[in-house]
Amino acid sequence: MTDVDAVRERLRAVEQDHLVRFAGELSDEARATLVREIESIEPESLPRVIDRYVRQKPEFAVPEGVEPAPYYPNDPARGPRQWDRQAARAAGEALLRAGKVACFTVAGGQGSRLGYDGPKGCYPAGAITKRPLFQFFAEGIRKTGAKYGVTPAWYIMTSPQNHETTVAFFEANDYFGLGRTDVVFFPQGVMPAFDRETGRVLLAEKGRLALTPDGHGGSLKALHVSGSLDDMARRGVEHISYFQVDNPIVRVADPVFLGLHASVPDSSGEMSSKMLPKVAPEERVGIFCRVDGRTTVIEYSDMPMERQRERLEDGSLRFLAGSIAIHAMGVEFVRRLNEDPDFELPFHRADKKVACVDVETGEALTPSVANAVKLERFVFDAVPLARASIVYETERVEEFAPIKNAEGTDSPASSTAIQTERAARWLEAVGVDVPRGADGEADCVIELSPLTAVEAEDLRGVDLPKVERGARVVM
Ligand code: UTP
Repeated sequence: MTDVDAVRERLRAVEQDHLVRFAGELSDEARATLVREIESIEPESLPRVIDRYVRQKPEFAVPEGVEPAPYYPNDPARGPRQWDRQAARAAGEALLRAGKVACFTVAGGQGSRLGYDGPKGCYPAGAITKRPLFQFFAEGIRKTGAKYGVTPAWYIMTSPQNHETTVAFFEANDYFGLGRTDVVFFPQGVMPAFDRETGRVLLAEKGRLALTPDGHGGSLKALHVSGSLDDMARRGVEHISYFQVDNPIVRVADPVFLGLHASVPDSSGEMSSKMLPKVAPEERVGIFCRVDGRTTVIEYSDMPMERQRERLEDGSLRFLAGSIAIHAMGVEFVRRLNEDPDFELPFHRADKKVACVDVETGEALTPSVANAVKLERFVFDAVPLARASIVYETERVEEFAPIKNAEGTDSPASSTAIQTERAARWLEAVGVDVPRGADGEADCVIELSPLTAVEAEDLRGVDLPKVERGARVVM
């Protein structure tokens, strides 16, 4: 029996044998690739997934008794939950000094909204020098090393589609000054796209499945399967600082957040999150809630708008805490999840247009309406799996300037404006005059390297620039 025959048998058992219908037309090499792709999607797992997510559209019902999740306010003196910033910081710094923290970037997404040709981490995000996103993070990690004496190892999740280009980018840039053994790349898993009507897996070409990365939630399994959890254990890493590839001003290893995560009594040290207060009920971010005593994230599209508009007596939003996809996770937590044979995060369904091959005729089809179901896992679905999970409020200007869209909100333009505003604030905090317009906005462009500062305090003792009106300052 050839490889194709063997795989055909497996496919027939799950009513997917159309996938090898054109195998006879392929070269040996192309056939081998097809077989590999089919094996990678574990055909036996498909019927359950198709029944649950493709043949029916899972309806999400907001659980009864859902409450807003409590959170640690950015200002420790404010609100019902007072806390000790210095103690949290000291705890986080101790972890960093002991080499117990690794950084983890999920960079396997397709970045289709931005429309950039290449891995998003290579995108020139710097306001002036066009420093790539990956360089921002590398410099943040180097600065963390300089401050605490140990440079955190950096794990980067790629996708099978962008893995090689990503690694080549680091090679070409000499790992941005990091040790190459301290940067670990691994590709995430993939999911096939399904025909919306029939539940059949789509063929992108006669010899290729229509595959896409399985979502940032795939990272929890990929950390294990890739051997990265073991690698972390060998290095003595206990906590993972998780962030996305699209936010140039993220704190790659925030001692205060890590300290809260690892040391406050109501945290299990398993999975913690940063939040931003939503600016409006309509803001499209997941919302931190409390359900049956557990912290959980409910997607904005799953929460009825009238609930999202509820307000407290002081006029603030009741469901205020928006998720910005910054987490801290215990290595042991991720290991525990993976040791459970039944562990899996749910899929989220999106109906999309996917170019494919007509399985009857072999003809290439370019659909004009959504013909496919794509399934992705989201990392925040792991939050309720933690025994106790805390949420920490941060400030937009301090650490959230994502690049998602080509224009408008969360675009390169909005990101560079926030980069400048943050640098301007930090400079003002150490006594530098920053010219501002009548609207209060900085009348200049500033690009701050994380090597210079990852927080305002780092600017003390630095040779500071004079900022003229309309200036472009790189520091
Ligand atoms: P997004 O939700 O912004 O998705 O990812 P995306 O694929 O990058 O962009 P669009 O939606 O196609 O425009 C948020 C973060 O999760 C990572 C992304 O790389 C980004 O850092 N991600 C997303 C993965 O690592 N894998 C995935 O399968 C999806």
